Amino acid sequence: MRRKSYHYDRRALFISRHHHRQIANPDQVGDSLPRLRQIAVLLRERSRSAWKVMAGMLIGPAIVAGALGIVLWTGSYDVAATNMAGQLEARVAAFALNHAIHRRAPDQTNPFSSPEDIRDGLVSYKRNCVDCHGARNVPESNFGKGLNPPAPDLTLSFVRTMPDGELYWVVSNGIRMTGMPAFSSTHTSNEIWKIVAFVRHLPEITADEQQVLNAGRDEKTTHP
Ligand code: HEC
Repeated sequence: MRRKSYHYDRRALFISRHHHRQIANPDQVGDSLPRLRQIAVLLRERSRSAWKVMAGMLIGPAIVAGALGIVLWTGSYDVAATNMAGQLEARVAAFALNHAIHRRAPDQTNPFSSPEDIRDGLVSYKRNCVDCHGARNVPESNFGKGLNPPAPDLTLSFVRTMPDGELYWVVSNGIRMTGMPAFSSTHTSNEIWKIVAFVRHLPEITADEQQVLNAGRDEKTTHP
């Protein structure tokens, strides 16, 4: 009878090795093995499966990193600025960008909005922005046309609906890995707020203002 139950226990152990959940209760192993041995077996089973999980967690990412390394090493990743981002990359980047700007932007409304402030903003816009972003009837320069990601038309609705603080943050800090520069090291905060005032004014830009923006830049920066 004792022998029989020992065989039964061996079978239980065998099963438990292959279906380790069954060993959750050490009593299942039976009581013919000394208690300490049962616990040792249980611990060994547990640590084996823990090792398997850990190995999986290390090997999986290592395979992915290796595959990525091969793609980069063979030069398969196309770094050309003419190679536009795919739908997925563009969506993920826009999602990350919107949330990052939203989180960091000051919760402030623009303290500058007079016609003089807008005029000062126009002068700064001409010097610092128009070559990339252009304006109505004012083309971007050649290098502005070749940017990837492209510099958006600042009269688009997604820019119009950005709060003042977010526009201020973007102009101050720029956007890394795009052509959008940070202006905080060359401009005071008042100057940046005035640029924001002009960006707000862009949809209603007058013929006069368009002429000021266009003056003197044709031969320098754009092809005929
Ligand atoms: C050298 C080119 C360049 C110049 C100069 C430049 N920008 Fe940009 N700007 C970009 C690019 C490229 C983007 C698009 C970035 C992206 O897709 O994430 C951008 C994006 C923006 C955005 C939109 C941010 C968003 O949420 O996507 C605003 C607003 C903006 N620029 C304002 C300005 C203003 C104002 C100036 C001048 C003070 C300026 N930019 C100067 C290239 C430029």
